[in-house]
Amino acid sequence: MMKKSWLPATVLTLSLSMLLAACGSGGGQPANSSGGAGKEKFVVATEAAYPPFEKMEGDKMSGYSIDVIQAAAEAGGFEVENRNTTWDLVFTDLENGKVDASISSITITDERKQKFDFSEPYFEATQLIMVPEDSTVTKLEDLKGLKVGVQIATTGDTVVGRVLGATNQDIKRYDDLPSAVDDFFNKRVDAVVADNGVIKYFADQIKGGKYKLLKDDSFEKEHYGIMVKKGNKEMLDKINNGLKIIKENGKLKELQSKYFPE
Ligand code: ARG
Repeated sequence: MMKKSWLPATVLTLSLSMLLAACGSGGGQPANSSGGAGKEKFVVATEAAYPPFEKMEGDKMSGYSIDVIQAAAEAGGFEVENRNTTWDLVFTDLENGKVDASISSITITDERKQKFDFSEPYFEATQLIMVPEDSTVTKLEDLKGLKVGVQIATTGDTVVGRVLGATNQDIKRYDDLPSAVDDFFNKRVDAVVADNGVIKYFADQIKGGKYKLLKDDSFEKEHYGIMVKKGNKEMLDKINNGLKIIKENGKLKELQSKYFPE
C-alpha cells in the first residue's frame, strides 16, 4: 500500500522537475534557482557510473565526489541538486546551460580549460592498467597488439591513444567504464585503463579475480575539479569558498579516509 501511494508522487516530482528544467533552458534562464532556505540551488550533472566516486543506489546518488560537493555546499551556503546523466552530457549540458556545474571525477586538463572553468582540485588521481594476473604486460607500451578497453573521451582514452595511436582499432571505447570492465572480466578485452580509485574498486569487487594493476612511468598526476561554465566566476567563487572551508576544517580529509582508507 505504502509503495503504491509513494510511486506516483515520485513520478510527478520527476516530471515536474523535468518540465522546470525544460522551461529553464528553453527560456535561456540559468538552471539555478532559489532553494528551500532561501539559499541558491545549483543543478549539478554527474555520470554516476564511476564508483566509489559517483554511483547510483536505487534512485539516490552517492560517492566521494557527491559527498564532497554536498559538504562544500553546506560550508559555502548553497544547495545542490544532483542530476545523473551520460559522460558526454556532463560536458554539453553544462555548455548549453542546462546545468550549473558538473562533478564527475573530471580531471582538470588544459584542453578542457579552454572550454570550461574548474574549481580548485578536490582529489589527486592517476591512471592504472588492469590486466590478468598471468599477463606479461608490465608497462603501457606492452599493450601494443592487445585489445584495450577505455571509457570514451577520458584521460584513460588519451594516454592509451598516445601510445597505441588514437585511431588504433584495438582501442575499445565504451560509453561507460562498467561496460569496459565487464568486457575485461569476460575476456573480450585484454586490459582496461582508467583512474586508479575506480580500477581498484572494480578489482576489489571481483573476489578471487586473477588480475594485476600496473602504473606506467608516463602516467602523470591528475586532479579532479568541479566544472562550471566558462566565465561563471560567481559560482566558481562560491564552490571554491566551500572547498576551502572543508579543506581547512578537515572535512575533505575525513571523506578521503572514509572512501580511501590506508
Ligand atoms: N578522470 C577521468 C577524466 O576526467 C575519467 C572520469 C570519468 N568519470 C565518470 N564519471 N565516468 O577523463
